[in-house]
Amino acid sequence: MKKDYILPSLNDARRRNKEVSKNVSFIMDDSYKGLGEGKHYYIITHGCQANQRDSETMAGLLDQMGYSMCDDEKKADVIIVNTCAVRQGAEEKVLGEIGALKRLKTLNPDLIIALGGCMAQEEESVRTIMEKYRQVDIIFGTHNIYSLPKLLYEVITTRTRKIEVFSGMGEVVESLPVTRFMSHKAWVNIMYGCDKFCSYCIVPYTRGKERSRQKEDIIYEVEELVKQGYKEVCLLGQNVNAYGKDLHIDYTFGDLLSDVAKTGIDRIRFMTSHPWDFDDTMIRSIKENKNIMPYIHLPIQSGNTGILKKMNRRYTREEYLALFDKLKEQLPGYSFTTDIIVGFPNESDEAFEDTLSAYDHCQFDNAFTFIYSKREGTPAAAMEDLIDRSVKEERLQRLNEKVAYYANKKNQRFKDSIVEVLVDGVSKRNSNVYSGYTPENKLVNFTGENIHTGDIVKVKITEVMSFSLNGVKVD
Ligand code: 5AD
Ligand code: SF4
Repeated sequence: MKKDYILPSLNDARRRNKEVSKNVSFIMDDSYKGLGEGKHYYIITHGCQANQRDSETMAGLLDQMGYSMCDDEKKADVIIVNTCAVRQGAEEKVLGEIGALKRLKTLNPDLIIALGGCMAQEEESVRTIMEKYRQVDIIFGTHNIYSLPKLLYEVITTRTRKIEVFSGMGEVVESLPVTRFMSHKAWVNIMYGCDKFCSYCIVPYTRGKERSRQKEDIIYEVEELVKQGYKEVCLLGQNVNAYGKDLHIDYTFGDLLSDVAKTGIDRIRFMTSHPWDFDDTMIRSIKENKNIMPYIHLPIQSGNTGILKKMNRRYTREEYLALFDKLKEQLPGYSFTTDIIVGFPNESDEAFEDTLSAYDHCQFDNAFTFIYSKREGTPAAAMEDLIDRSVKEERLQRLNEKVAYYANKKNQRFKDSIVEVLVDGVSKRNSNVYSGYTPENKLVNFTGENIHTGDIVKVKITEVMSFSLNGVKVD
């Protein structure tokens, strides 16, 4: 029997080399198959799209073991909590959640609780869970999702707790099973990890070195999705513009976009772009291919050069605005969104005003805005911060007012127009109302007859709100 505990190490997670990452192929061990026959699992997913996609792999593995997915945690024999570590708030939510799961364990002592995702890669979090949350049976990391069947097998056969978290640079693991949660839109990983080391961010430590999948594997995956009737793929990476660089080949993200476009899939999106390496091949490819959606998410984080430098973002305010202006000019009609952090250590009033003025310049369609959250082990955690929490909250509120103002202003261009919507299904709030997204990634709520999930329908926009559009299907 292997060791019960392989714990994460921040020091190991920091390491990087220039070698091409290993490509390995997953094969399910026969002894794990059938272990879940007649049993159910329930997955709780926090965080970003990378985690959503990872949960689909976890589901695929459990399905291959014979388990069935259920939508009620009380009926589950295995509960997986796929966690996020990007901000303190996300972690507190997880701890509250696993605290509450203890009750289920008293009702069903055979229940297995497994915790995966980015929190599992953090030394401090794992220590806390080991000491205070005895109800957690398995902790597994982002680098070894494939270990889940083995860890479940070991817990079932030995009834001891298993912790297996690797902190190396990571590999590229192919042939993992996947149970996709949607039948019309799919997440497709094109690369893993991040080497940018923005000073506030935990991701380079929790997700390892930047490593690209082979282009053939990506294109094959998209071709298969087209055959299965999928309408949209979202190409995923922490920094998609860096695609291919680690493979030392003459093939960039722009080339990949063009090749994915050739599969004929109706809609292609990608997440997330870093302003660094947003090159002309990428712009050309986006421009030339009608199935690449007119939507770009380009995090600015701050509009002040001093803060950007402390953030290790590798661009100045002027450089970001120049790139933005170029994109805007070359890609008319596109929608642009961004991410912004307020209250970075010692952010002055003037620095924050620079963020507001940069926002006025770009007039984004929308933004994800956050108060800086200290992440232990990152360089920013050691920076002096004398700014009061109340000041940070006030800044966030001022910024959010601006976000709402421009979101509304930007949406006005759709009033009375006819847009194409990929239908996601009926709205959660009203079963007579359907919802879906336009090519520009605008959420549309609409009514009409004969509408099915996965259809691309024409909708006349009758009402414009800040964060959504209302309309009626037209024939
Ligand atoms: N505090 C606040 N926000 C953060 N983000 C990443 N790390 C932190 C942090 N420590 C934000 C960034 C990133 C988005 C995914 O989360 O804006 O783009
Ligand atoms: Fe995703 Fe980052 Fe959260 Fe990990 S820490 S789940 S990579 S957002």
